[in-house]
Amino acid sequence: MPRGLFITFEGIDGAGKSSHLATFEQWLRARGHDVVLTREPGGSELAEALRELILHRPMDALTETLLVFAARRDHLQTTIEPALARGATVLCDRFTDATFAYQGGGRGFDLDVLRTLEGWVHPGRQPDLTFWFDLDPAVAAERRAAARAPDRFERQDAAFFARVRDGYAARAAQSPARFVRIAADGELAAVWARVERAATERLG
Ligand code: TMP
Repeated sequence: MPRGLFITFEGIDGAGKSSHLATFEQWLRARGHDVVLTREPGGSELAEALRELILHRPMDALTETLLVFAARRDHLQTTIEPALARGATVLCDRFTDATFAYQGGGRGFDLDVLRTLEGWVHPGRQPDLTFWFDLDPAVAAERRAAARAPDRFERQDAAFFARVRDGYAARAAQSPARFVRIAADGELAAVWARVERAATERLG
């Protein structure tokens, strides 16, 4: 049984990635993929409990980073790796690129420490394909303002999200074969058309 595909969606809050996850899941299923749709932080019982703390309790950047990686470790062991091993396609809303963007870029946390933790928590495991929904932070802020009550990250200012975006750009530059940048401006249907075009090119 060939190992399944690991696909991630990334982008700053308000970039609109979550709107396309369900559509993309259907797109994959229509092509015969056995899809496991999951998210970070979260995606397992323990990681979902940690998600509540990460999103809503005050903490410093190191604590936040350790909790994000602790949640990821459990998520990998209980959800992601077993699914990939049985040949399923794992579609994950955020993964370690978000840690480099939010904790590394946004919080200014030490990138060398992040690389060390990444190597401990998932040696040899990276997504096969990452869709990065890239949007001007000012436009994303307008979209967020129309949405639900903000969590600790969504409450951050424009400068924070500019740094998060730069964090994603740096990460994408390091792995250009893995990243697909999706321009996330414009109508939902136009953005989906960009996702579908890129997905067809990459996955057939
Ligand atoms: P979501 O709202 O897209 O589900 O993401 C939850 C928040 O968690 C989002 O604001 C980004 C943040 N986050 C991090 O700061 N570091 C991480 O490693 C992950 C996965 C998410």
